[in-house]
Amino acid sequence: MPTKTSSNHKTRSRVTPILNQRSKPVQEFGTVVNYPLALDESVRLHSTKNLNQILADTMVLRDLYKKHHWQLTGHTFYQLHLLFDKHYEEQAELVDELAERIQTLGGVAIALAHDVAEHTKIERAPIHREEVPVQLSRLLEAHELILKEARKGAKEATDAGDDGTNDLLVSDVIRTNELQVWFIAEHLVATPAVEADS
Ligand SMILES: [Fe+2]
Repeated sequence: MPTKTSSNHKTRSRVTPILNQRSKPVQEFGTVVNYPLALDESVRLHSTKNLNQILADTMVLRDLYKKHHWQLTGHTFYQLHLLFDKHYEEQAELVDELAERIQTLGGVAIALAHDVAEHTKIERAPIHREEVPVQLSRLLEAHELILKEARKGAKEATDAGDDGTNDLLVSDVIRTNELQVWFIAEHLVATPAVEADS
């Protein structure tokens, strides 16, 4: 016959939730676990480092789009309100693809705002509302920074044999950002609204 014990886990009901738990991390940021991907650890470490930088900057760009979607002013409000939200959704999709690529390579993806703020290279925008041309300029600068990082990351991935990372950066990150740049940049052309220049 089993003896009774006073220890918590023996006397606790089987349906009692165990709350307020903490433990050591199961994997440190900046490390990779070894999945059988036929890619050296050094290659996976380098790719995850590049991808985490692009991920942090993409999260900031994604959130810039939502900030500007909400804080718009002026006669282009409606079209830009819709366009900014479309780009926000597309950047959110890239965030998920980048983060899951990092995890696929055995790494740890940056996720939370305070960690993003520490890692991003995009200039911090104020909490205040800004004029439309400033909003557009900030977006274009963020796109260009990400495009530079993505092209460098894509080349380094190819040189190291990490074709999956190269494909993600070229087919998704670079192509999406290039197209969004076109749509935003055209809003900074000072064309006459009613009367053509003579
Ligand atoms: Fe909205």
